[in-house]
Amino acid sequence: MATPLIIDTDPGVDDAFAIALAARSPEVDLIGLTTVFGNVALDLTTRNALRLLAHLGRTDVPVVRGAEGPAGAADVHGEDGLGGQAHTLPESDREIFSDDVVGFFRERLTPETVVVAIGPQTNIAKALDAGVEFPKLIVMGGGLDVGNTTTRAEFNFWADPAAARTVIRKGNPIVVPLNLTHRCIADAEFLARVDPVLSNLTGTYSAYLRDRSDNRGIYFHDAVAVAEAIVPGTLTTKSHVLDVDDEGALVRGKHQVEVAEDTDWPALRTFMEQRLSV
Ligand code: RIB
Ligand code: CA
Repeated sequence: MATPLIIDTDPGVDDAFAIALAARSPEVDLIGLTTVFGNVALDLTTRNALRLLAHLGRTDVPVVRGAEGPAGAADVHGEDGLGGQAHTLPESDREIFSDDVVGFFRERLTPETVVVAIGPQTNIAKALDAGVEFPKLIVMGGGLDVGNTTTRAEFNFWADPAAARTVIRKGNPIVVPLNLTHRCIADAEFLARVDPVLSNLTGTYSAYLRDRSDNRGIYFHDAVAVAEAIVPGTLTTKSHVLDVDDEGALVRGKHQVEVAEDTDWPALRTFMEQRLSV
């Protein structure tokens, strides 16, 4: 029996690979995408979600439009959120399923459902504050003494610190932080072997990293988080007692959460390559 999966997302180049990984993995039943502002504005993340599902042959998956907010990472993901290549994906004339994310969670969550949140945590926090309980919540975000947007704060948590704080305090998440995902790079050789339509989206992101580091490829932040939903136990976790400060930095605090600290990245990369090749 496949695990029901909802991904809350701000596509976003690495989001695109995470969504494709879920769509092409029989272990999970992708029952919805909820969109949020983040890498680019909500209109674009929502349009990108529809187009990615059209490319993946998954127009059966409903897209629910979530929270608006300021775009924050066009320098990394391109003005259109997909490396300036969104036009290479199929146009989608499909309508969104709804714009009521809380109602969608209320209707669709079952005791088996996993939710993976790979953008700013605004939708998840709103649902928690409305009394929604997530049976299993996996969150890509934060960093312990590391950041990518400031020296201390990771983008998803920086974009809405109050929401990140709510998720840490009320959501009982598995947190997948930069400390792990910075070790999970999809290099040029990997990208040359997987779905070329998706790899074609990575130019802006690769150039951004090339100009700032020795990395040749992109960080697979979001796909690493989704992998834990597909094969539970992929990530080795450890309990920490944390909170989120006003900048969006993960700090020592009072709330016990599981933090993903390690994975066998070479093996996980091989697994992903098999699923993402066409
Ligand atoms: O900091 C990395 C996270 O921010 C990823 O989810 C990426 O897509 C951006 O949303
Ligand atoms: Ca993301």
